[in-house]
Amino acid sequence: MQDYQFTIHNEEFTSLESPAHSFSLDRSQTLLRNFMLHGVVTGSKCGGKAICGGCRVKILSGYQYCNKPISEEQVILNEQELLQGWRLSCQLYCLRDVTIFIP
Ligand code: FES
Repeated sequence: MQDYQFTIHNEEFTSLESPAHSFSLDRSQTLLRNFMLHGVVTGSKCGGKAICGGCRVKILSGYQYCNKPISEEQVILNEQELLQGWRLSCQLYCLRDVTIFIP
């Protein structure tokens, strides 16, 4: 199985050349679960139930390799945010390399 990476940026407009963190991606787990496995802290308060919105992230590259937003995400994130690449990491699965901004 090929090893894919996700890269995390602390600043939304940081150069993609200088990521804050980069980890191997477990594609069978949500991005939030991947964060937990690597000690990355988010504002998650509902334990991954798509209720609090605290786990939101922005996909900077690789959006096409991620699952489509589910209806629960469309309740928390408005259409504009979804178009800009915002997602709930607790509902997000990425199949290949992605670059993520965590607010
Ligand atoms: S952890 Fe609460 S919405 Fe994702």
